[in-house]
Amino acid sequence: MRINPETVERIKHAADIVEVVGDFVSLKKKGANYSACCPFHNEKTPSFNVNPVRQIYKCFGCGAAGDSIKFVMDIDGIGYGEALRYLAGKYNIEIEEEELTDEETIRQNARESLYIILNFAKNYYQHQLHDSEEGQAIGLSYFRERGFTNEIRRKFELGYSLDVWDAFTKEALEKGYSAEILEKAGLLIHKEGSQSAGYDRFRGRVIFPIHNIAGKTIAFGARILKSDKNQPKYLNSPETEVYHKSEVLYGIYQAKNAIRQLEHCYLVEGYTDVISLHQAGIENVVASSGTSLTVEQIRLIGRFTPNVTILYDGDMAGIKAALRGLDLVLEEGLNVNVVLFPDNEDPDSYVRRVGAEAFKAHLKKASKDFITFKTEILLQDAGNDPFRLAAVIQEVVNSIVKIPDAIKRQVFFHRTSEMMRVDEQMLITEGNKLLRKQQTAKPAERPARQNNAGSGFSGPGTGVPDGPNDLDAIFSDGFGPFAGEPDAGAFSPEPPAEPIQRSKLHYQEEAFVRLLVVHGARELEPTITVCQYVLGQIEGIELRDPVYNHLLTLFRENYNRNQVLPTDYFLNHHEADIRSMTIEWLTQKHELSELWKEKYEIYVPFETDVLDRTAFNNILRLKKAFIEEKMKVCLQQAATAQTEEEQHAIMTEFMFYKGISMAAAKELGSVIG
Ligand code: UTP
Ligand code: MN
Repeated sequence: MRINPETVERIKHAADIVEVVGDFVSLKKKGANYSACCPFHNEKTPSFNVNPVRQIYKCFGCGAAGDSIKFVMDIDGIGYGEALRYLAGKYNIEIEEEELTDEETIRQNARESLYIILNFAKNYYQHQLHDSEEGQAIGLSYFRERGFTNEIRRKFELGYSLDVWDAFTKEALEKGYSAEILEKAGLLIHKEGSQSAGYDRFRGRVIFPIHNIAGKTIAFGARILKSDKNQPKYLNSPETEVYHKSEVLYGIYQAKNAIRQLEHCYLVEGYTDVISLHQAGIENVVASSGTSLTVEQIRLIGRFTPNVTILYDGDMAGIKAALRGLDLVLEEGLNVNVVLFPDNEDPDSYVRRVGAEAFKAHLKKASKDFITFKTEILLQDAGNDPFRLAAVIQEVVNSIVKIPDAIKRQVFFHRTSEMMRVDEQMLITEGNKLLRKQQTAKPAERPARQNNAGSGFSGPGTGVPDGPNDLDAIFSDGFGPFAGEPDAGAFSPEPPAEPIQRSKLHYQEEAFVRLLVVHGARELEPTITVCQYVLGQIEGIELRDPVYNHLLTLFRENYNRNQVLPTDYFLNHHEADIRSMTIEWLTQKHELSELWKEKYEIYVPFETDVLDRTAFNNILRLKKAFIEEKMKVCLQQAATAQTEEEQHAIMTEFMFYKGISMAAAKELGSVIG
């Protein structure tokens, strides 16, 4: 059943962000806002902020942000519906459910019935393991041999499937489940055209149920026990409506609390590694289970902690093959460490051999950050061959530039330059080349928004801006770093080394769209909204950034219908990127001015106090940035012009633009002055 929209509204209305967050972290009042150490990442100084007016939270350290519902979803690792139910419970709101359309009912029921049959199967397999003769003799004795205790078997809900063609199918059909749903759940294999109902997918195997983050069984892994060359050792459920292999981490349900508390996650290869480590008292561990790591899996970990240690078993060839894939983890902004195990050992066998204490000691001792690890391995291989050394340098720099945080990049440039005995500045230059290539190869790609010192907006502590650009940013359109020149180095802790540079135009486009999203619905004068004014001024202009242009188009379409899209529309947008962008835009200005107030004890007008000037300047700046882009193109053309006339024509055009640009600059100046 779906919770009806009125109930959702009531829950949203009742669920005060300060109260909701306050149940999980201790908040301190700071001006109009509240702050705390972020519950989503490890930190010592509070960068987690709650804004009671906007009813949103935002962490300037890790980028976590959202409203009450999002907070509950993330802190508990539950879905939207469940979060609503939690909040309804907290605020004593009775949940009114809504009738679904037929199609919705079918889809909802389909998923629901998959969960039900999977749960039934899980119980059935558990029962067979503990209570059937075959299960005890084969399955249970195998688990005992492996050293799995009763407690750990129950915790992971381990089971056994009888070595019979259709034992489970028969039982399920008898209980009234349809063959169709059994097949959809991946439990029954039915050969097309065959007369028989089909047969069990899992037979004569021990069963490892795979849970989603809320603890529901969504699939199974099954290990064969007899040696049969024609059978795979492990068999897994196929993809189903509730099981998307690439998004699942084995053990996340059992591990999530430990991961959050310890602010650290171990990543292993398989089921048995996860379970053995749990039994040894290491509970912050998950497995990618068979697949190479996917972005979805990495993001799942990232919801709980930015710190991951990958436990590698075995052979160098496999490890080398995996090295590239790990750049993906760096790209997501996680801190990656690596631990190797002696040859022919995996975490499971190793912990069983040496015991929990020695195992933990090994984790501590053998843990290396990924970049150092990778550099070492590649260097070993290269020996003294200068050509191979050059390839190593490329490869290492390639990984470093994947790290979104500029400060961390610096650290690794420094460290690896020593390891490779090359000049640090040389590495940085190489890195910048690559970064620029990335930028031009994918112009539409947005700079990473989280943990990104490069965006100039990493919250308090990055340094306080100074210089005329910033003053004019504060007093005119005041969009902090986005209003300044792109090379406003003062925002960046290491100015010359910050290579990600968005074009000035891109900054202006962002500032412009932000104005629409954050203030579009406000009235400049009675009956004239910011949106109306702004759209009227830039008729015919398209933005280069496709996302920004998409937002602009939305405003235009609604404007034609005499409507202004309110900020809430974007806060609740179905695309997560747009939601988080909106939150970032909402929180930017405030933080900056707080910073200024504290530092200089000056009065900083609220953006809304000077909205007319803000809007006016914003448009002017955008136009100026457009013109300057055109001037740049002229200069490029002039350099390659074939004839003098051509050159002359180009320069005339250039001077024309220059005139406009200067006029705009003057106008901007006079407004500020
Ligand atoms: P192992 O081959 O070590 O499995 O793979 P095991 O059950 O521990 O077997 P033994 O007793 O050491 O011989 C380790 C993990 O790799 C995954 C499983 O998750 C397993 O827990 N795996 C292995 C598969 O998914 N499929 C396979 O075919 C093999
Ligand atoms: Mn093993």
